[in-house]
Amino acid sequence: MTVGLRGLPGKIVVVAGAATGIGAATAKRLGAEGCSVVVGDVAAEAAQQTADALVAAGGQAVARTFDLADPSSVAALIEFAAATYSGVDAIFNVGADMGAVRADTDVVDIDFELWDRVMAVNLRGYVACMKYVIPQLLSRSGGVVVDMSSAAAFQGEPARPAYATAKAGIGKASRRTSSCRAKIAGSAQQLDARRLGDAMRAPRRLTADRRAGPAGPPSRTSARPR
Ligand SMILES: NC(=O)c1ccc[n+]([C@@H]2O[C@H](COP(=O)([O-])OP(=O)(O)OC[C@H]3O[C@@H](n4cnc5c(N)ncnc54)[C@H](O)[C@@H]3O)[C@@H](O)[C@H]2O)c1
Repeated sequence: MTVGLRGLPGKIVVVAGAATGIGAATAKRLGAEGCSVVVGDVAAEAAQQTADALVAAGGQAVARTFDLADPSSVAALIEFAAATYSGVDAIFNVGADMGAVRADTDVVDIDFELWDRVMAVNLRGYVACMKYVIPQLLSRSGGVVVDMSSAAAFQGEPARPAYATAKAGIGKASRRTSSCRAKIAGSAQQLDARRLGDAMRAPRRLTADRRAGPAGPPSRTSARPR
């Protein structure tokens, strides 16, 4: 059964990593709910296919190629979204280099090029998305950031140290960001469109103190890790 979501029609949402998997499914659902969606991904052809499928289903979407590993490319994605739809209301940071993760076996055997790659894409890329989108959100008096985490951030397991470290870092970056800058930064292990809708419907007000200072009290996230 598909449950309808309230409060989403007309929202402008960037899905950063929307060519395949969870990002593509979320982008399509957001389109079906009446959002204008920017389908961002390093995989240009697949991103275009996601956007085309969304438009064919009656929604609004544009594809934009970008690379989470390159902060200037992230900045260009956000600028493109704001210019295309006259602003940005929300971002779903979901992209990850899962190919690199497959070679991420053990600390003793770690290849530091692989470690750096996972950090550049899966962690710093999310921070870059927050860095460049938050001024856009604040220029519209607020918005929503949802960062995709993983159970790997919380569980012990004998593999994927770089992936788990990046995901744990995302949780910390989300919470630090939500406590001083944005209305909401959600950290989610498994995020479906309904929980994204929950996050987008209930933005917290940004106070003057939080806008000015680096350290307000920690705020609760609306999409909590499971
Ligand atoms: N699938 C799961 O079971 C699961 C569980 C927990 C968390 N996650 C997280 O969910 C997210 C999506 O996972 P998925 O299973 O849908 O994987 P996926 O590989 O289908 O999707 C990842 C997307 O990120 C894109 N991407 C890769 N490198 C990029 C880069 N440098 N710049 C921009 N985009 C890039 C890929 O092209 C792809 O479209 C990831 O953050 C993953 O860690 C997945």
